[in-house]
Amino acid sequence: MKQIKEISLIAILAVSIASALAVQAAGQAPQPANEAAGAVSAGNALFQQNCAFCHGRDAMGGETGPDLTQSKLVRSDTTGEKIAAVVRAGRPDNKMPAFNFSAQQIDSLVAYLRARIAAARAGDRRGVDPSDLQTGNVAAGMAYFNGAGGCSNCHSPTGDLAGIATRYQGLQLEERMLYPKGAKSTVAVTLPSGQTISGTLAYLDEFTVALRDSGGTYRSWPTNQVKYRVDAPVDAHVTLFSKYTDDDIHNLMAYLQTLR
Ligand code: HEC
Ligand code: HEC
Repeated sequence: MKQIKEISLIAILAVSIASALAVQAAGQAPQPANEAAGAVSAGNALFQQNCAFCHGRDAMGGETGPDLTQSKLVRSDTTGEKIAAVVRAGRPDNKMPAFNFSAQQIDSLVAYLRARIAAARAGDRRGVDPSDLQTGNVAAGMAYFNGAGGCSNCHSPTGDLAGIATRYQGLQLEERMLYPKGAKSTVAVTLPSGQTISGTLAYLDEFTVALRDSGGTYRSWPTNQVKYRVDAPVDAHVTLFSKYTDDDIHNLMAYLQTLR
């Protein structure tokens, strides 16, 4: 317990330092421009499996790892080489393991982190000018929702999103739309016997996969003894980061704000 506290303290310190540095770095962040949505999505899956339990599901900091969207190293890494170096070598003195990933896997992680930075920057911009929230076009937002955005494949303005603008306001609503934190991932674990057990993903790293079953029981296995498949529903939103233009976001916000 004591050790965990110390680690958290280090993490908190690292986050504060990282945020202080990020203020200077914000202007020179790499452009997320043309990352293929596929790479972002693969990077997200890899990140959720290997990095999220320290750095947070959205890379914005967790129990034991700093906010990577505010990291000067990550933000200034235009080629991806610095991120690759950290991932391959780890930070053994500071509790981050080394990962033996292929160049392609690392590229996808870099693409994912850039998408997260783009989302965080969208947040920064909103912070500066909340009136942005009022500049969208409702009809265009509705068209995007039902068309190019593909939102209506999963959502309905009279179903799950009915009254969303009453539940969340302004920036909070935009955050939910850009990155609905806290949506639970599920996992199906297939045992050597062939039996499959499904539940809510409770823990995952290179070595251990754990779930909470429908009865609330926590169960875990070594990853090398079972097969598992994680279904992270917010992946769709992460993939969308690389598709939205600023106008799309403003129009969607205008439309969502009519759902009261
Ligand atoms: C067991 C916890 C843990 C895991 C797992 C982990 N990290 Fe880290 N990571 C850390 C900690 C703690 C630091 C800060 C270390 C330091 O300050 O030297 C860090 C630092 C970093 C940095 C450097 C940030 C900076 O500004 O210096 C990057 C990039 C990074 N991690 C990416 C990843 C990626 C990508 C993964 C998954 C492949 C991952 N980490 C998995 C704990 C972890
Ligand atoms: C592949 C399915 C999928 C697509 C496509 C999708 N979403 Fe989502 N969305 C989800 C899931 C899953 C959640 C998490 C639901 C939860 O937490 O209850 C979510 C959450 C949200 C939330 C927050 C809801 C809440 O009650 O907190 C908003 C707002 C939202 N999405 C808007 C959109 C918009 C706008 C688009 C299109 C640009 C879109 N979504 C596309 C699956 C999707």
